[in-house]
Amino acid sequence: MTNNQHIARRDLAVLWHPCTQMKDHEQLPLIPIKSGQGVWLEDFDGKRYLDAVSSWWVNLFGHCNPVINKVVKDQIDTLEHVILGGFTHEAAVDLAEKLVEITPKNLDKCFYADNGSSAIEIALKMSFHYWRNLGRTQKTKFVTLENSYHGETLGALAVGDVALYKDTYGPLLMDVVTVPGPDCYYREAGESWEAYSLRRFADMEQTLAEHAHEVCAVIVEPLVQCAGSMRMYHPVYLKRLREACDKYGVHLIADEIAVGFGRTGTLFACEQAAISPDFLCLSKGLTGGYLPLSAVLTSNKVYDAFYDDYRNLTAFLHSHSYTGNALACRAALATIGIFQSRDVLGRNRELAAAMAKAAERFEEHPHVAEVRQTGMIVAIEMVENKQSREPYPWQQRRGLKVYQYAISQGVLLRPLGNVIYFMPPYVINEQEIELMADVAWQGIQLATQD
Ligand SMILES: Cc1ncc(COP(=O)(O)O)c(C=O)c1O
Repeated sequence: MTNNQHIARRDLAVLWHPCTQMKDHEQLPLIPIKSGQGVWLEDFDGKRYLDAVSSWWVNLFGHCNPVINKVVKDQIDTLEHVILGGFTHEAAVDLAEKLVEITPKNLDKCFYADNGSSAIEIALKMSFHYWRNLGRTQKTKFVTLENSYHGETLGALAVGDVALYKDTYGPLLMDVVTVPGPDCYYREAGESWEAYSLRRFADMEQTLAEHAHEVCAVIVEPLVQCAGSMRMYHPVYLKRLREACDKYGVHLIADEIAVGFGRTGTLFACEQAAISPDFLCLSKGLTGGYLPLSAVLTSNKVYDAFYDDYRNLTAFLHSHSYTGNALACRAALATIGIFQSRDVLGRNRELAAAMAKAAERFEEHPHVAEVRQTGMIVAIEMVENKQSREPYPWQQRRGLKVYQYAISQGVLLRPLGNVIYFMPPYVINEQEIELMADVAWQGIQLATQD
């Protein structure tokens, strides 16, 4: 009989899961999902789970969305995939045109890959290679922010700063310049996000003043450092960063892989600072959570530095087999189509207000140091001591207790250490927001009772 236990047993015999200590599954049941509908997932025993984390932040308009389903089904009967070197197809062209149209100005060209980390590798390589093509061979370094996360491949890991993922591989990684960040969790009592983020820019300014001659680019996650415990900052930092990158002749790479497509309240987070990066990395929500695809957008200025006779060897010879996959491009077009046919951002403002209201009570919890929000992301920071903000030792795995409780109640929360967060699909409704918050509240009560 096909039930949870049966699939889980077969799975554990042959499968090695991402971001998992597999031994945990001696105690922690693996959850085999049979189907999905809207914000709900259903397992093989018929139990339902509210997907409060949008399946690793990818899903925007619900599982099995009928609009996206139809478009992907239509495409599959025409063309599933074709090599993108020397060949092209309509979906890849339609999507590139659309991305150039909807992203900030001066982003004129679109380079595809098939996951977020690869998009980061591409932006890093393109920036380095741009300077090299211009004869600026001393530019070989990247500047990154403390607590940043850009993926798990070696280049992406090197420009990240989350010790849990990075430290083990230290000997394999290139050296980067890591600058103290604008993360507003550390602001003084009574200090605004804006004042703190602005104040923290001084370190970046100084770093660029000292290192610009050897720096290709600064890479940032605009407004929210998602994998870095959902830490947030004010758009003024991005405004200043854009000005400084221009002043010192350094590229700005905006990694909107997690925050793009409406997550922060605007279609792209950079819009809140009214800036345009030199490279914009997109993935995750790009296909509405359907298929692996990523895109790096850049300017004609960058593109032109690679455009020359072949024998001059200035071309960007990077490729991935599934680059520009036709089904993925169609899913992305359908996703963008939903933004254009409905007032998604307007509805998200209502939902964000409902999430703010539902999260209000956590402020008073004796083991919550902060409740923070940017658009459709709410994070709740659990601590051992509310006054001193002493964190719970990571070995206690309090977040895991919240996860386990929430699963028992039919809600998929996946805390980052001691930080519980809500990042649901945009088709969640007010009742489901209440449910998600109630379960998180009870889970935190349980996890902090001793
Ligand atoms: C900001 C950011 N950049 C890059 C990545 C890596 O994307 P992927 O997991 O598709 O490689 C992630 C994934 O969580 C991310 O949050």
